[in-house]
Amino acid sequence: MEPIDFRSDTLTRPTPAMRRAMAEAEVGDDVYGEDPTVRRLEATIAERLGFEAAVFTPSGTMANQIAVLLHAPRGAEVLAPEGAHVFEFELGAPALLAGALIRTLPAPGGRPAPEALTQAVHDSPHQAPTTALFLENTHNLAGGTVLPLELKNALLEAAKAAGLSTHLDGARLWNASVATGAPLSELARGFDTAMVSFSKGLGAPVGSVLLVPRALEAEARRYRKILGGGMRQAGVLAAAALVALGDWEAVIAEDHQKAKALADGLAALGYRVDPPPETNMVYLEVEGAAAFCQRLASLGILALPLGARRVRFVTHRDLAPEDVTEALRRLQAL
Ligand SMILES: Cc1ncc(COP(=O)(O)O)c(C=O)c1O
Repeated sequence: MEPIDFRSDTLTRPTPAMRRAMAEAEVGDDVYGEDPTVRRLEATIAERLGFEAAVFTPSGTMANQIAVLLHAPRGAEVLAPEGAHVFEFELGAPALLAGALIRTLPAPGGRPAPEALTQAVHDSPHQAPTTALFLENTHNLAGGTVLPLELKNALLEAAKAAGLSTHLDGARLWNASVATGAPLSELARGFDTAMVSFSKGLGAPVGSVLLVPRALEAEARRYRKILGGGMRQAGVLAAAALVALGDWEAVIAEDHQKAKALADGLAALGYRVDPPPETNMVYLEVEGAAAFCQRLASLGILALPLGARRVRFVTHRDLAPEDVTEALRRLQAL
């Protein structure tokens, strides 16, 4: 029985069009700034998101960590919503690399309140200075939830009033854009820096970018090289990302429909879906998440336990709507 794999939207294989583009990519040495395909990708995405420059990185983690290095001097502190990827899933890298702290804000649904932000900012000789606010849209651990435009704008205003710089972890900004109908540039407007990933819902095999103002570009490239992200003929990777940028809206919209169908089917079977899916993620509350996922695996369904009582299903471009129907059929056996 072929497993139906809902563990992550990072599991997708490059499409035939991506593989062809990779094979035919025009390349050069990107550390010398001479890879035309990387340059085209960086220029394209900077323009679409309304930034002056973009720096291609092998991973979203590297782009976020370059942002930490840019936003937080040693001993300083960055605020982020609870459950933020930069805090939970980047292995303590801010402490290791930048010597910075991340402090989390209460964030029901991944959405911190502007008042909570204002209250959290340190302004005392006895505490680590707060220098930056990192936000995440969509918020992975909160359930793939969207940060609404008005709230984003209010948070950026509060951050500005407190003298903080700002970074957007937009690994799945594509999903937020499709879910809200807001253009990517609106969702990214006002942030000092932003990250988007091509290797999640878009289906490219590798790659993210850090979007920066021109004044920070050289520093961002320097940190990328220090972190081991100076890739050479990286155009073979950028080529796949450029293909992904061609058809992402339709792909992501279908992912959201599949998530909705899966959530409705799970709820009909009596499972507790929480929160209701806003994008491509479905979270279940169950007793014994790890054991539950093992039982699912024996039925040919792969999902990810996150903590003791939560299980995550993610829809992606390598799953057809029929795979969701088939998964629900298999689930009836539980
Ligand atoms: C919200 C978010 N930010 C950052 C990352 C890191 O991306 P990467 O796996 O490319 O390092 C992820 C990965 O899943 C993520 O979900």
